Amino acid sequence: MFQLTVHGDDRIARVEPELYGHFTEHIGGVFYDGIWVGEDSPVPNIRGFRKELVEKMRQIHAPVIRWPGGCFAEIYDWRDGIGPRENRPTRINWWTRSDGRLEPNAVGTHEFVDFCRLVGAEPYFAANITSTTPLDIRDWIDYCNSPAGATTLARLREKNGSREPFGVRYWGVGNETWGGGGNMTGEMYAHEYRKYAMIMDNACGGLELICSGADHSDWRWPNDVLRVIEPSARLMSGLSLHFYCGSAGDPLAFTEEEWYRQLRQALDVERAIKRNWGFVVGYGMEKHARLVIDEWGCWHPGGSGPSPRMREYGIEPAPNNPDAVGNLFEQQSTMRDAMVAAATLNLFNNHADKIRMATVAQLVNNLHCLFLAGGDRFICTPTFHVFDMMKEHQGGDALRISGSKGEIARERYSVPGLSASATVKNGVLTVTLANLNVTESAEVKLTFPGLTTDKTAKVALLTASDPHAHNSYEEPEAVKTERCELSFDGSLRVPPFSILTASVGLI
Ligand code: AHR
Repeated sequence: MFQLTVHGDDRIARVEPELYGHFTEHIGGVFYDGIWVGEDSPVPNIRGFRKELVEKMRQIHAPVIRWPGGCFAEIYDWRDGIGPRENRPTRINWWTRSDGRLEPNAVGTHEFVDFCRLVGAEPYFAANITSTTPLDIRDWIDYCNSPAGATTLARLREKNGSREPFGVRYWGVGNETWGGGGNMTGEMYAHEYRKYAMIMDNACGGLELICSGADHSDWRWPNDVLRVIEPSARLMSGLSLHFYCGSAGDPLAFTEEEWYRQLRQALDVERAIKRNWGFVVGYGMEKHARLVIDEWGCWHPGGSGPSPRMREYGIEPAPNNPDAVGNLFEQQSTMRDAMVAAATLNLFNNHADKIRMATVAQLVNNLHCLFLAGGDRFICTPTFHVFDMMKEHQGGDALRISGSKGEIARERYSVPGLSASATVKNGVLTVTLANLNVTESAEVKLTFPGLTTDKTAKVALLTASDPHAHNSYEEPEAVKTERCELSFDGSLRVPPFSILTASVGLI
C-alpha cells in the first residue's frame, strides 16, 4: 500500500502549459508525410496538414511546438521557406548524408505558423547561429513580428500571404552548440550568445530567448556558458537541456530488467533538472530564467517503426523518400515509452518552479513520438494517450506530495514503485499515478490535508495486457485510454505497468 499525502497548502508553482510541448524537425518522416501531406493530397488535410494529426493535437491542447530543428536548424536559411512554393529551392538537409533525402522547403515560416494556429499552439523557433549571421536572424524576427506595413520585410510577409504579424515569442539561440550547432566550447558559445541575443532583443521587445544548454548530464557546459553570459543575464529567459534516455534492449521485445533500466535512465532527468537549476540559481539568474527541456524522450535503435514496410501497405514512398529506406530515427512506442512519458511529466509537474517549457522529441514518425503516419495510415502511440490523460495538469498549481513511493531494487540500481504528481485548477484536483512495477498492482491511499474533495472522481486509465503492447496499423487501438467515474474516498488501484489520472472536484 502506498500512503501519499497531497498537501493542499503547499503549492510548488504553476505548471506552465508549455511543459506539455512538442518538437518537430525537418528530419526523416516528421514533416513530409507525417505532418505535411500537401494541399493536393488524397490524404484528408487542412491546407496541406494531415487532418487527423491536427485534430489529435487540438485534443491534447498542444501548447507550443519547436521548429525547424534540432540539428537541421543550424543549416536552415529562413528565406528558403517563403514565397511561392514552386520557386523554393531544394537544399541538402542536415540529415541528407544519413538518409539521402533532400529538403524541398515546402514547409516554411508561413506554413509552420499556420500549423501552430490550426493546432492552437505557440511557435518556438530555433535560430541558426552557426551558418547565418545575427543580421539574418534580426531579419527573420522583423519578418515575423513587425507590425503590418511597418518595414520592407513586413510588407514582404504581407505579399506572401500574412498581413498580420506572426508574433513569434520563443526563440532558441542555437541548437546543441556543443555538437551539430557549431561544435563550440561553452565559452565560445557564450560569446556568440551575447552577440546574437543583443541583436535579437534589440529587434523586438518581449521575446523569450533560450540559451543552448547541456546534453544529458554534462555539468561543465552550463557552468562554462552561464559564467560568461551572467553579466548580460537579462537577455536570457531560458536555459535549454536535452535529455534522451538511451536504449535499454529492443524497443518492442525488452526484458523485465530492461524495463526497469529504461525507467531508471528516464528518471535521472530529475538529477539533470536539479543540477542545471543549481547553475541558474548559482549565477543569480533565477528571477528571469528557467529551464527549457526542449528535447527529451527515449532514443531506441531505429527501424522498429512501420515506414520500411509502407509498400506492403500499398503506399508509395513520399516524394522525398524515393528509395523507401524508412524514416530516419522512427521508432515504435510501447507501454514502456508511455511509462517514461508519464513519469517524466510527473517530474516536470513536481519541478514546475524550475521549468518554463519542455518539448518531447519528436512529434511523429521519429523518436519518442505521439503519432505514426504514412500515406493514408495514421495511428496514435501510447505516448499520445499519456499527453491526453495528463493535459488537465496544464496551467494548474502543482502541489507537493509526500509519502513513500516504494523501491524496486535491482542488482546495480533501483527505481521507485510509483510516480505521482498533483495539480489544482479551477476547483478541480488532478492526480496522475504511474505504476512502474511491471508485475504487481499499486494500491494507493491518498489523503489531502487542506482540501475537501468530492465523492466521485473522473478516472482515465492507460493499461494493457502486456508491457510490450503498442499500436500498429493492423491494431490501431491495442492500447487506448479507458475512462469512467468512480466513487472516491482517496483509494485507487493502479494495475501493473499502467498509468491513472483521477480528477476530483474540490468542495
Ligand atoms: O532529435 C534528433 C536530434 O537529436 C536533433 O536534431 C538534435 O538536436 C539531437 O541531437
